Amino acid sequence: MQAKTAKESRTIITDLVLPSETNPIGNMFGGELLARMDRAASISARRHSRRIVVTASVNHVAFNKMIPLGSVVTVESQVSRAFNSSMEVFMDVWIEDRESGMRSKANEAIYTFVAVDEMGSPVPVPELIPETDLEKSRFEAALRRKQLSLLLAGKIKPEDATELKALFE
Ligand SMILES: CC(C)(COP(=O)(O)OP(=O)(O)OC[C@H]1O[C@@H](n2cnc3c(N)ncnc32)[C@H](O)[C@@H]1OP(=O)(O)O)[C@@H](O)C(=O)NCCC(=O)NCCS
Repeated sequence: MQAKTAKESRTIITDLVLPSETNPIGNMFGGELLARMDRAASISARRHSRRIVVTASVNHVAFNKMIPLGSVVTVESQVSRAFNSSMEVFMDVWIEDRESGMRSKANEAIYTFVAVDEMGSPVPVPELIPETDLEKSRFEAALRRKQLSLLLAGKIKPEDATELKALFE
């Protein structure tokens, strides 16, 4: 299977925040943003693997900034590391100032997807080659995040989270 670069999976989704997508104080509902991120990330995982992909875990979400009604929201996602059947996908969320058009970062998130066959069984995915400094630092940290996610899900034992443990040594 031929290795791929991160930019080959880059996905950009831009859309407005409508009234039905807001909370009682007129800001974007968190679940709506999670769904938009899931869509972008699943397209990235599909572009990387060219397989059916399922969301295995939402590893990290930071809702740093409120996103008001009427905002133009852009979700940019790309695969940050591929393992055997799983892929970590990193997302940056931007909002656009109406008058200046300047973008500011509102949120970021990290999801894990698994490539599966028609029966839902995991299948191998191509390796990912990071190119830029940012891609390299996200790639480096991805194994720690995978171990943390598996540990929290009760799928590995603490003693097997070697990369994670190394942080505290
Ligand atoms: C995701 C799923 C395919 C994993 O199946 P599984 O039986 O745990 O399979 P495995 O143990 O072989 O794990 C497969 C891969 O998923 C990874 N994985 C599983 N759970 C994970 C978690 N919580 N966090 C991070 N990675 C996880 C494993 O590390 C493994 O990665 P690797 O092959 O790259 O090393 C299965 O749990 C599933 O189908 N879940 C439902 C997915 C879904 O419907 N999502 C939408 C929710 S509405």
